[in-house]
Amino acid sequence: MAPSLHCLPVFFALIILVAADQQPPTTLLTNDSVSSRPNALVLLVSKNEATNLHVVDIQKRTPLKPVPLVLDVNGRSLWVDCESNYLSSTYNAPQCHSTQCSRANLHDCRTCSAQTRPGCHNNTCGLNAANPISGETAFGELAQDVLSIPSTDGSSLGQLVTIPQFLFACAPSSLAQKGFPPAVQGVVGLGHTSIALPTQLASHFGFQQKFALCLTSPLNHGVLFLGEAPYRLHPGIDVSHPLGSTPLSISREGEYFIQVTSIRINERVVPVNPALLNRRPGSTLISTTTPYTVLEHSIYQTFTQFYANQMSWAPRVQPIAPFGLCFDATKMTATQIGPEVANIDLVLHNRNNVWRIVGANSMVQPRPGVWCLGFVDGGSNPKAPIILGSYQLEDNLLQFDLARSKLGFSSSLLFRGTHCGNFFVGSAQTSAAKEEKHV
Ligand SMILES: *[C@@H]1O[C@H](CO)[C@@H](O)[C@H](O)[C@H]1NC(C)=O
Ligand SMILES: *[C@@H]1O[C@H](CO)[C@@H](O)[C@H](O)[C@H]1NC(C)=O
Repeated sequence: MAPSLHCLPVFFALIILVAADQQPPTTLLTNDSVSSRPNALVLLVSKNEATNLHVVDIQKRTPLKPVPLVLDVNGRSLWVDCESNYLSSTYNAPQCHSTQCSRANLHDCRTCSAQTRPGCHNNTCGLNAANPISGETAFGELAQDVLSIPSTDGSSLGQLVTIPQFLFACAPSSLAQKGFPPAVQGVVGLGHTSIALPTQLASHFGFQQKFALCLTSPLNHGVLFLGEAPYRLHPGIDVSHPLGSTPLSISREGEYFIQVTSIRINERVVPVNPALLNRRPGSTLISTTTPYTVLEHSIYQTFTQFYANQMSWAPRVQPIAPFGLCFDATKMTATQIGPEVANIDLVLHNRNNVWRIVGANSMVQPRPGVWCLGFVDGGSNPKAPIILGSYQLEDNLLQFDLARSKLGFSSSLLFRGTHCGNFFVGSAQTSAAKEEKHV
Protein backbone atom coordinates (compact mmCIF):
# COMPACT_ATOMS: atom_id res chain seq x y z
CA MET A 1 0.00 0.00 0.00
CA ALA A 2 1.35 3.45 -0.95
CA PRO A 3 2.01 5.88 1.88
CA SER A 4 -0.78 8.37 2.21
CA LEU A 5 0.02 11.70 0.58
CA HIS A 6 0.04 13.80 3.70
CA CYS A 7 2.91 11.75 5.14
CA LEU A 8 5.30 12.49 2.26
CA PRO A 9 6.58 15.90 3.39
CA VAL A 10 7.50 14.45 6.78
CA PHE A 11 9.27 11.57 5.05
CA PHE A 12 11.38 13.95 2.90
CA ALA A 13 12.08 16.24 5.81
CA LEU A 14 13.50 13.24 7.67
CA ILE A 15 15.79 12.33 4.76
CA ILE A 16 17.13 15.89 4.68
CA LEU A 17 17.70 15.87 8.44
CA VAL A 18 19.58 12.59 8.31
CA ALA A 19 21.68 13.72 5.35
CA ALA A 20 22.55 17.00 7.07
CA ASP A 21 23.47 15.15 10.24
CA GLN A 22 26.01 12.93 8.50
CA GLN A 23 28.01 15.74 6.97
CA PRO A 24 31.12 16.87 8.79
CA PRO A 25 30.73 20.56 9.69
CA THR A 26 33.26 21.82 7.11
CA THR A 27 31.61 20.01 4.21
CA LEU A 28 29.81 22.08 1.64
CA LEU A 29 29.74 19.48 -1.11
CA THR A 30 29.17 15.78 -0.69
CA ASN A 31 30.54 13.68 -3.46
CA ASP A 32 32.02 10.29 -2.65
CA SER A 33 33.84 9.93 -5.93
CA VAL A 34 35.64 13.21 -5.16
CA SER A 35 36.48 12.35 -1.59
CA SER A 36 37.71 8.77 -1.94
CA ARG A 37 40.27 9.57 -4.58
CA PRO A 38 40.56 13.31 -5.00
CA ASN A 39 42.33 14.84 -7.99
CA ALA A 40 42.94 17.98 -6.06
CA LEU A 41 42.93 19.37 -2.55
CA VAL A 42 42.57 22.92 -1.39
CA LEU A 43 43.59 25.17 1.49
CA LEU A 44 42.38 28.69 2.16
CA VAL A 45 45.10 31.23 2.81
CA SER A 46 44.66 34.39 4.85
CA LYS A 47 47.04 37.30 4.92
CA ASN A 48 47.93 38.70 8.33
CA GLU A 49 47.98 42.47 7.98
CA ALA A 50 50.46 43.23 10.75
CA THR A 51 53.18 40.85 9.50
CA ASN A 52 52.22 40.56 5.79
CA LEU A 53 52.56 36.81 6.19
CA HIS A 54 50.15 34.35 4.62
CA VAL A 55 48.67 31.80 7.01
CA VAL A 56 46.80 28.52 6.47
CA ASP A 57 44.82 26.49 9.00
CA ILE A 58 45.58 22.80 8.68
CA GLN A 59 43.46 20.19 10.42
CA LYS A 60 45.76 17.86 12.35
CA ARG A 61 45.84 15.39 15.23
CA THR A 62 43.19 13.26 16.98
CA PRO A 63 40.79 14.80 17.77
CA LEU A 64 41.23 17.08 14.75
CA LYS A 65 42.22 20.62 15.50
CA PRO A 66 42.95 23.53 13.12
CA VAL A 67 46.62 24.45 13.44
CA PRO A 68 47.54 27.87 12.00
CA LEU A 69 50.83 27.79 10.06
CA VAL A 70 52.82 30.33 8.04
CA LEU A 71 52.89 29.42 4.35
CA ASP A 72 56.46 29.14 3.06
CA VAL A 73 56.69 28.13 -0.59
CA ASN A 74 60.36 27.23 -0.06
CA GLY A 75 59.97 25.49 3.32
CA ARG A 76 61.48 22.01 3.56
CA SER A 77 58.81 20.43 5.78
CA LEU A 78 55.76 21.12 7.86
CA TRP A 79 56.89 21.93 11.38
CA VAL A 80 54.90 22.76 14.48
CA ASP A 81 55.60 23.77 18.03
CA CYS A 82 55.13 20.49 19.93
CA GLU A 83 56.21 21.83 23.29
CA SER A 84 53.01 23.64 24.15
CA ASN A 85 49.61 21.95 24.07
CA TYR A 86 50.30 19.14 21.65
CA LEU A 87 47.44 16.78 22.48
CA SER A 88 46.80 13.88 20.16
CA SER A 89 46.13 10.19 20.61
CA THR A 90 47.71 9.38 17.25
CA TYR A 91 51.13 11.06 17.62
CA ASN A 92 54.00 8.79 16.84
CA ALA A 93 57.73 9.32 16.29
CA PRO A 94 59.32 6.82 13.88
CA GLN A 95 62.38 4.94 15.15
CA CYS A 96 65.72 5.88 13.71
CA HIS A 97 66.74 3.78 10.68
CA SER A 98 63.04 3.25 9.85
CA THR A 99 61.70 3.66 6.31
CA GLN A 100 60.10 6.97 7.35
CA CYS A 101 63.48 8.34 8.45
CA SER A 102 65.17 7.28 5.24
CA ARG A 103 62.31 8.79 3.26
CA ALA A 104 63.07 12.07 5.03
CA ASN A 105 66.77 11.48 4.34
CA LEU A 106 67.62 11.34 8.06
CA HIS A 107 70.19 8.83 9.21
CA ASP A 108 71.16 9.66 12.79
CA CYS A 109 69.59 8.56 16.05
CA ARG A 110 68.37 11.22 18.40
CA THR A 111 68.15 11.17 22.18
CA CYS A 112 66.20 13.47 24.44
CA SER A 113 67.00 13.87 28.11
CA ALA A 114 63.85 15.75 29.13
CA GLN A 115 60.55 14.13 30.06
CA THR A 116 58.89 12.05 27.34
CA ARG A 117 56.36 14.09 25.32
CA PRO A 118 55.64 14.77 21.66
CA GLY A 119 59.00 15.95 20.34
CA CYS A 120 61.04 14.18 23.03
CA HIS A 121 61.75 10.49 22.60
CA ASN A 122 64.90 8.41 22.41
CA ASN A 123 65.99 6.63 19.23
CA THR A 124 64.00 8.77 16.87
CA CYS A 125 65.44 10.79 14.00
CA GLY A 126 66.19 14.46 14.33
CA LEU A 127 65.76 17.19 11.75
CA ASN A 128 66.31 20.89 11.44
CA ALA A 129 63.32 23.20 11.31
CA ALA A 130 63.75 26.81 10.18
CA ASN A 131 61.88 30.00 10.99
CA PRO A 132 61.97 31.85 7.65
CA ILE A 133 61.34 35.21 9.32
CA SER A 134 63.96 35.21 12.08
CA GLY A 135 66.35 32.94 10.20
CA GLU A 136 66.67 30.77 13.32
CA THR A 137 66.78 27.01 13.12
CA ALA A 138 66.20 24.37 15.77
CA PHE A 139 66.57 20.65 16.02
CA GLY A 140 63.37 18.66 16.33
CA GLU A 141 61.97 15.16 16.12
CA LEU A 142 60.58 13.61 12.95
CA ALA A 143 56.99 12.71 13.80
CA GLN A 144 53.82 11.50 12.19
CA ASP A 145 50.20 12.21 12.92
CA VAL A 146 46.81 12.57 11.24
CA LEU A 147 46.37 15.38 8.73
CA SER A 148 43.03 16.21 7.11
CA ILE A 149 42.48 18.47 4.15
CA PRO A 150 39.47 19.42 2.02
CA SER A 151 39.23 17.90 -1.44
CA THR A 152 38.00 20.02 -4.33
CA ASP A 153 36.57 19.64 -7.80
CA GLY A 154 38.37 22.89 -8.62
CA SER A 155 35.50 25.21 -7.85
CA SER A 156 34.43 24.67 -4.25
CA LEU A 157 35.38 23.01 -0.98
CA GLY A 158 34.70 19.28 -0.90
CA GLN A 159 34.89 16.65 1.81
CA LEU A 160 37.83 16.37 4.14
CA VAL A 161 40.22 13.57 3.23
CA THR A 162 42.76 12.18 5.65
CA ILE A 163 46.38 11.07 5.69
CA PRO A 164 46.74 9.00 8.85
CA GLN A 165 50.53 9.23 9.08
CA PHE A 166 51.68 12.57 7.75
CA LEU A 167 55.38 13.22 8.39
CA PHE A 168 56.36 16.52 9.98
CA ALA A 169 58.91 18.08 12.29
CA CYS A 170 58.16 18.53 15.94
CA ALA A 171 60.03 21.67 16.99
CA PRO A 172 60.61 23.55 20.26
CA SER A 173 58.30 26.48 21.17
CA SER A 174 61.13 28.99 20.94
CA LEU A 175 61.28 28.59 17.16
CA ALA A 176 57.73 29.83 16.65
CA GLN A 177 58.11 32.92 18.83
CA LYS A 178 59.82 35.39 16.51
CA GLY A 179 58.06 37.31 13.78
CA PHE A 180 54.93 35.16 13.49
CA PRO A 181 51.35 36.39 13.80
CA PRO A 182 49.73 35.57 17.17
CA ALA A 183 48.59 31.94 17.55
CA VAL A 184 50.65 30.68 14.60
CA GLN A 185 52.32 27.42 15.61
CA GLY A 186 54.77 26.72 12.82
CA VAL A 187 55.35 26.63 9.09
CA VAL A 188 53.93 24.65 6.23
CA GLY A 189 56.65 24.13 3.64
CA LEU A 190 55.93 23.64 -0.05
CA GLY A 191 59.58 23.23 -1.08
CA HIS A 192 60.73 20.48 -3.41
CA THR A 193 61.70 17.93 -0.75
CA SER A 194 60.58 14.42 0.09
CA ILE A 195 58.48 15.42 3.10
CA ALA A 196 57.08 18.81 2.07
CA LEU A 197 53.28 19.01 1.96
CA PRO A 198 52.80 18.77 -1.85
CA THR A 199 55.10 15.73 -2.10
CA GLN A 200 53.38 13.77 0.64
CA LEU A 201 49.89 14.59 -0.62
CA ALA A 202 50.72 13.73 -4.24
CA SER A 203 52.25 10.40 -3.31
CA HIS A 204 49.49 9.48 -0.84
CA PHE A 205 46.61 10.29 -3.20
CA GLY A 206 48.46 9.39 -6.40
CA PHE A 207 48.10 12.69 -8.22
CA GLN A 208 50.64 14.77 -10.16
CA GLN A 209 53.22 16.75 -8.23
CA LYS A 210 51.67 20.07 -8.94
CA PHE A 211 50.35 22.91 -6.85
CA ALA A 212 49.00 26.38 -7.54
CA LEU A 213 49.25 29.42 -5.35
CA CYS A 214 46.80 32.29 -5.50
CA LEU A 215 47.47 34.82 -2.73
CA THR A 216 45.37 37.87 -2.03
CA SER A 217 44.95 40.87 0.25
CA PRO A 218 43.86 40.65 3.91
CA LEU A 219 40.24 41.41 2.91
CA ASN A 220 39.72 37.95 1.40
CA HIS A 221 40.93 34.38 1.54
CA GLY A 222 43.46 33.37 -1.06
CA VAL A 223 43.75 29.76 -2.09
CA LEU A 224 46.33 27.01 -2.46
CA PHE A 225 45.34 24.21 -4.83
CA LEU A 226 47.26 20.94 -4.53
CA GLY A 227 46.98 18.66 -7.54
CA GLU A 228 45.32 19.00 -10.90
CA ALA A 229 43.45 21.91 -12.48
CA PRO A 230 40.79 23.21 -13.09
CA TYR A 231 41.18 26.05 -10.63
CA ARG A 232 37.93 27.98 -10.85
CA LEU A 233 37.30 31.41 -9.43
CA HIS A 234 34.05 33.34 -9.37
CA PRO A 235 32.32 33.78 -11.83
CA GLY A 236 33.41 30.33 -13.03
CA ILE A 237 36.68 31.34 -14.69
CA ASP A 238 39.23 28.51 -14.92
CA VAL A 239 42.38 30.49 -14.16
CA SER A 240 44.65 27.60 -15.15
CA HIS A 241 44.06 28.62 -18.80
CA PRO A 242 45.87 30.33 -20.33
CA LEU A 243 49.11 30.49 -18.35
CA GLY A 244 52.53 31.75 -19.37
CA SER A 245 55.22 29.20 -18.72
CA THR A 246 58.89 29.34 -17.78
CA PRO A 247 61.43 26.77 -16.55
CA LEU A 248 61.44 26.29 -12.80
CA SER A 249 64.82 25.64 -11.23
CA ILE A 250 65.23 24.07 -7.84
CA SER A 251 68.12 24.75 -5.49
CA ARG A 252 69.78 22.05 -3.45
CA GLU A 253 67.61 23.15 -0.51
CA GLY A 254 64.43 22.62 -2.57
CA GLU A 255 63.76 26.35 -3.18
CA TYR A 256 62.09 27.67 -6.34
CA PHE A 257 63.95 29.91 -8.78
CA ILE A 258 63.12 31.31 -12.21
CA GLN A 259 65.32 33.10 -14.71
CA VAL A 260 64.45 36.78 -15.12
CA THR A 261 66.80 37.86 -17.92
CA SER A 262 65.88 41.55 -18.05
CA ILE A 263 63.45 44.07 -16.62
CA ARG A 264 61.44 46.51 -18.73
CA ILE A 265 59.54 49.55 -17.57
CA ASN A 266 57.03 50.99 -20.05
CA GLU A 267 58.53 48.62 -22.66
CA ARG A 268 62.03 50.07 -22.18
CA VAL A 269 64.87 47.89 -20.92
CA VAL A 270 66.25 48.90 -17.53
CA PRO A 271 70.07 48.98 -17.93
CA VAL A 272 70.95 46.34 -15.33
CA ASN A 273 74.35 44.63 -15.52
CA PRO A 274 73.40 41.32 -17.26
CA ALA A 275 76.05 39.41 -15.33
CA LEU A 276 74.03 40.08 -12.18
CA LEU A 277 71.01 38.27 -13.59
CA ASN A 278 72.88 35.39 -15.15
CA ARG A 279 72.97 33.19 -12.06
CA ARG A 280 72.45 29.55 -11.13
CA PRO A 281 69.97 28.15 -10.26
CA GLY A 282 68.22 31.34 -11.43
CA SER A 283 68.32 35.08 -10.84
CA THR A 284 64.97 35.15 -9.11
CA LEU A 285 63.77 33.40 -6.00
CA ILE A 286 60.01 33.17 -5.44
CA SER A 287 59.15 33.83 -1.81
CA THR A 288 55.91 33.92 0.17
CA THR A 289 57.67 35.02 3.36
CA THR A 290 59.21 38.17 1.87
CA PRO A 291 56.51 40.87 1.88
CA TYR A 292 57.85 43.05 -0.97
CA THR A 293 60.23 42.20 -3.80
CA VAL A 294 63.84 42.63 -2.78
CA LEU A 295 66.41 43.78 -5.35
CA GLU A 296 70.18 43.63 -5.07
CA HIS A 297 71.45 47.14 -4.29
CA SER A 298 72.75 48.14 -7.75
CA ILE A 299 69.67 46.70 -9.47
CA TYR A 300 67.47 48.53 -6.97
CA GLN A 301 69.18 51.86 -7.66
CA THR A 302 69.03 51.57 -11.44
CA PHE A 303 65.47 50.27 -11.35
CA THR A 304 64.16 52.98 -9.02
CA GLN A 305 65.87 55.76 -10.96
CA PHE A 306 64.51 54.45 -14.25
CA TYR A 307 61.02 54.11 -12.80
CA ALA A 308 61.15 57.68 -11.40
CA ASN A 309 62.10 58.96 -14.88
CA GLN A 310 59.23 57.09 -16.50
CA MET A 311 56.89 58.58 -13.91
CA SER A 312 58.20 62.14 -14.11
CA TRP A 313 54.64 63.43 -14.59
CA ALA A 314 53.56 62.22 -11.12
CA PRO A 315 54.21 64.48 -8.11
CA ARG A 316 56.56 62.85 -5.61
CA VAL A 317 56.24 62.88 -1.83
CA GLN A 318 58.68 62.07 0.97
CA PRO A 319 59.40 58.29 0.83
CA ILE A 320 57.99 56.11 3.60
CA ALA A 321 60.35 53.32 4.71
CA PRO A 322 61.08 50.63 3.61
CA PHE A 323 60.19 52.16 0.23
CA GLY A 324 62.39 54.67 -1.56
CA LEU A 325 60.07 56.19 -4.16
CA CYS A 326 56.60 57.51 -3.31
CA PHE A 327 53.98 59.56 -5.12
CA ASP A 328 51.04 61.79 -4.29
CA ALA A 329 48.11 59.40 -4.73
CA THR A 330 45.60 62.22 -5.11
CA LYS A 331 47.21 63.05 -8.46
CA MET A 332 46.96 59.49 -9.78
CA THR A 333 44.08 57.68 -11.44
CA ALA A 334 42.72 54.46 -10.00
CA THR A 335 41.81 51.72 -12.48
CA GLN A 336 40.59 48.14 -12.32
CA ILE A 337 44.23 47.00 -12.21
CA GLY A 338 45.41 49.44 -9.54
CA PRO A 339 46.75 52.99 -9.93
CA GLU A 340 47.62 54.01 -13.46
CA VAL A 341 51.40 53.79 -13.45
CA ALA A 342 54.27 52.56 -15.62
CA ASN A 343 54.07 48.81 -16.27
CA ILE A 344 56.94 46.66 -15.08
CA ASP A 345 57.76 43.59 -17.17
CA LEU A 346 59.93 40.74 -15.99
CA VAL A 347 61.35 39.22 -19.17
CA LEU A 348 61.87 35.51 -18.62
CA HIS A 349 63.81 32.84 -20.52
CA ASN A 350 62.98 34.44 -23.87
CA ARG A 351 61.88 37.89 -24.99
CA ASN A 352 58.27 36.92 -25.63
CA ASN A 353 57.83 35.41 -22.23
CA VAL A 354 56.87 38.25 -19.99
CA TRP A 355 55.44 38.47 -16.49
CA ARG A 356 53.73 41.84 -16.29
CA ILE A 357 53.47 43.59 -12.93
CA VAL A 358 50.56 46.05 -12.96
CA GLY A 359 49.83 48.95 -10.59
CA ALA A 360 47.94 46.75 -8.11
CA ASN A 361 51.12 44.71 -7.58
CA SER A 362 53.76 47.40 -8.01
CA MET A 363 52.30 50.19 -5.88
CA VAL A 364 51.76 49.98 -2.13
CA GLN A 365 49.68 52.41 -0.09
CA PRO A 366 51.48 52.71 3.28
CA ARG A 367 49.04 55.44 4.26
CA PRO A 368 46.10 57.15 2.60
CA GLY A 369 47.12 59.58 -0.11
CA VAL A 370 50.52 57.99 -0.76
CA TRP A 371 51.47 55.31 -3.28
CA CYS A 372 54.99 53.87 -3.07
CA LEU A 373 56.89 51.67 -5.47
CA GLY A 374 56.68 48.34 -3.61
CA PHE A 375 60.26 47.17 -4.09
CA VAL A 376 63.00 47.29 -1.46
CA ASP A 377 66.78 47.54 -1.40
CA GLY A 378 68.34 44.18 -0.53
CA GLY A 379 71.89 45.47 -0.01
CA SER A 380 74.90 44.07 -1.80
CA ASN A 381 74.51 40.40 -0.99
CA PRO A 382 70.90 39.19 -0.88
CA LYS A 383 70.08 35.50 -1.27
CA ALA A 384 69.25 36.12 -4.95
CA PRO A 385 69.54 39.27 -7.13
CA ILE A 386 65.73 39.36 -7.22
CA ILE A 387 63.52 37.90 -4.50
CA LEU A 388 59.92 38.11 -5.74
CA GLY A 389 57.88 38.97 -2.67
CA SER A 390 54.30 38.08 -1.84
CA TYR A 391 52.80 41.53 -2.60
CA GLN A 392 53.90 41.10 -6.21
CA LEU A 393 52.40 37.59 -6.28
CA GLU A 394 48.92 38.58 -5.03
CA ASP A 395 46.01 38.03 -7.40
CA ASN A 396 48.30 36.17 -9.78
CA LEU A 397 47.99 32.39 -10.16
CA LEU A 398 51.31 30.55 -9.98
CA GLN A 399 51.31 26.88 -10.88
CA PHE A 400 54.35 24.89 -9.75
CA ASP A 401 54.55 21.83 -11.97
CA LEU A 402 57.28 19.81 -10.33
CA ALA A 403 57.12 16.82 -12.68
CA ARG A 404 57.80 19.05 -15.69
CA SER A 405 59.94 21.64 -13.83
CA LYS A 406 57.78 24.49 -15.08
CA LEU A 407 56.21 27.51 -13.51
CA GLY A 408 52.89 28.55 -15.00
CA PHE A 409 51.93 32.16 -14.32
CA SER A 410 48.78 34.10 -15.10
CA SER A 411 49.97 37.69 -14.57
CA SER A 412 47.31 39.81 -12.87
CA LEU A 413 43.90 38.09 -12.69
CA LEU A 414 42.37 41.56 -12.37
CA PHE A 415 42.72 41.76 -16.17
CA ARG A 416 40.32 38.83 -16.34
CA GLY A 417 37.78 40.34 -13.99
CA THR A 418 38.54 38.07 -11.06
CA HIS A 419 41.03 37.80 -8.19
CA CYS A 420 42.39 35.18 -5.82
CA GLY A 421 39.76 35.97 -3.15
CA ASN A 422 37.09 34.61 -5.47
CA PHE A 423 37.29 30.92 -4.67
CA PHE A 424 33.84 29.79 -3.55
CA VAL A 425 33.76 29.05 0.16
CA GLY A 426 30.14 29.88 0.87
CA SER A 427 28.89 32.51 3.22
CA ALA A 428 32.27 33.07 4.93
CA GLN A 429 33.11 35.39 2.08
CA THR A 430 30.90 38.35 1.71
CA SER A 431 30.76 39.96 -1.66
CA ALA A 432 30.92 43.31 0.15
CA ALA A 433 34.49 42.57 1.24
CA LYS A 434 35.40 41.57 -2.30
CA GLU A 435 34.02 44.77 -3.80
CA GLU A 436 35.91 46.95 -1.37
CA LYS A 437 39.38 46.33 -2.75
CA HIS A 438 38.59 45.90 -6.36
CA VAL A 439 36.41 48.84 -7.30
C1 LIG B 1 30.67 13.75 -8.30
O1 LIG B 1 31.90 13.74 -9.01
C2 LIG B 1 31.83 13.07 -10.26
C3 LIG B 1 33.26 13.00 -10.83
O2 LIG B 1 33.92 14.21 -10.66
C4 LIG B 1 30.85 13.80 -11.17
O3 LIG B 1 30.75 13.14 -12.42
C5 LIG B 1 29.47 13.84 -10.50
O4 LIG B 1 28.59 14.58 -11.27
C6 LIG B 1 29.58 14.44 -9.10
N1 LIG B 1 28.30 14.34 -8.42
C7 LIG B 1 27.78 15.32 -7.70
C8 LIG B 1 26.48 14.99 -7.00
O5 LIG B 1 28.30 16.41 -7.57
C1 LIG C 1 66.70 8.59 26.91
O1 LIG C 1 67.73 7.79 27.41
C2 LIG C 1 68.48 8.36 28.47
C3 LIG C 1 69.67 7.47 28.80
O2 LIG C 1 69.28 6.13 28.88
C4 LIG C 1 67.56 8.58 29.66
O3 LIG C 1 68.25 9.20 30.72
C5 LIG C 1 66.40 9.47 29.22
O4 LIG C 1 65.47 9.64 30.27
C6 LIG C 1 65.69 8.89 28.02
N1 LIG C 1 64.72 9.86 27.52
C7 LIG C 1 63.45 9.57 27.29
C8 LIG C 1 62.61 10.68 26.77
O5 LIG C 1 62.96 8.49 27.49
